[in-house]
Amino acid sequence: MFNGDKMNKAIVVLGIGYVGLPLAITLARVGYKVTGVDVNKQVVRSIREGSLTIKENNLETLFNEEEVKKNFKVAEKPCSADVFIVCVQTPLDRTSKLPDLSHIVSAIESINPSLKKGNLVIVESTLPPLTCRKLIKPLIEKGAKLEVGKEVFLAHCPERVMPGQTFHELIYNNRIIGGINPKSARLAREVYSSFVKGNIELTDDVTAEMVKLMENTHRDVNIALANELSLVAETLGINAKEAIRLANKHPRVKILSPGIGVGGHCLPKDPWFLIHSDPKNTSLILTARKVNESMPEKIASKVRKFLKGIKDPKIIALGMTYKPDSGDLRESPAIEVIRNLKEEGYNISAYDNFVKGHEYDSIANIAKAADCIVVLVEHTSIKKELEKTENEIKTSMKNPLVLRIGTSYEPDTFDRGQR
Ligand SMILES: NC(=O)c1ccc[n+]([C@@H]2O[C@H](COP(=O)([O-])OP(=O)(O)OC[C@H]3O[C@@H](n4cnc5c(N)ncnc54)[C@H](O)[C@@H]3O)[C@@H](O)[C@H]2O)c1
Repeated sequence: MFNGDKMNKAIVVLGIGYVGLPLAITLARVGYKVTGVDVNKQVVRSIREGSLTIKENNLETLFNEEEVKKNFKVAEKPCSADVFIVCVQTPLDRTSKLPDLSHIVSAIESINPSLKKGNLVIVESTLPPLTCRKLIKPLIEKGAKLEVGKEVFLAHCPERVMPGQTFHELIYNNRIIGGINPKSARLAREVYSSFVKGNIELTDDVTAEMVKLMENTHRDVNIALANELSLVAETLGINAKEAIRLANKHPRVKILSPGIGVGGHCLPKDPWFLIHSDPKNTSLILTARKVNESMPEKIASKVRKFLKGIKDPKIIALGMTYKPDSGDLRESPAIEVIRNLKEEGYNISAYDNFVKGHEYDSIANIAKAADCIVVLVEHTSIKKELEKTENEIKTSMKNPLVLRIGTSYEPDTFDRGQR
């Protein structure tokens, strides 16, 4: 029986991507014997060879620590262990917007042959409500022939980390653990209490599933509000950011920063999990989603308006990732804006030093002979360079237009709307 004692306890982490790899390293650092499993052979090979497939602050340093080298290995298939932690992706089907749980199903099916009495299965992946009890529990009971809650244990511990801050947040965030029964939750707490310094709250599985979706939906709806207010401000011809700054002087108002849309693996899809759970009661959530989904098109039209009157304008787009100071391109609204303008026939070149193949030496250099620079994602380096050399850059341009649309990475927006 797993009892939280780390010495010689083995943990298999399924899915060693943005969530699973930092978690596996963190568990290895505190002494568990960790096997990171991924169906993507390239991911396994790269990690085995020491070349990491994702970028994250501190990742290289921690990966190369002695304790990690000793305790962490990777494999293409699961082996027997005391604990299995599922961190595979849970995307949306692109056309139907329905949750695609095929990776969860294949991950559970892959561990079934290795499951033994007393094992604990934890799911960190974000799940639509009722997935633990209606999909995962029956899959384990049928495949492993073990009763969940009595012979093997099942808990959902949704991940809350923010890319860029993952290792810090893994330790200092508060965690919610939902057990299929109280014993499952208590056993999962033993694992997390070995490295989490935040509070750990126990609940049931469905509440934990719902809590994660409520968090990201709260963020999505509030970002949509900020975006909508910025569009109204534009119609009225006033400065949206200044109006929001002034509104936030009210002691009970906290409007987030407007942006070019919402990206990343989580925020654009998690609200859909709630919408599909209860379509009749989620009209506000649906509307917010649509507002955020429409932003790239609105930003593209803003650029078109800006360039009216210039014949065959040459545009430089700066920043391509889904948020500042990250190399993550998943669901990036910047890419949508660029695609939209390209499809309209605009001559647009995209640059981002976080993105392979799109690097540049200096803004002044790439802006030469351009008509317009559109800053879609204001990485700290872009912000600093523009602050220092904006005038110099403008003198080298044909039509010195610099449109700074994307939000920058300001510390006070950390828990107030960074996405
Ligand atoms: N990225 C984040 O910041 C973040 C934050 C909170 C929650 N989440 C949630 O965590 C989950 C994982 O997200 P991610 O960003 O790490 O995804 P990811 O795509 O970076 O990693 C998932 C990995 O799982 C692997 N995989 C797929 N099926 C597998 C299987 N059957 N067995 C073993 N490996 C398998 C994939 O090859 C991939 O490498 C998602 O549900 C996401 O919503 C992500």
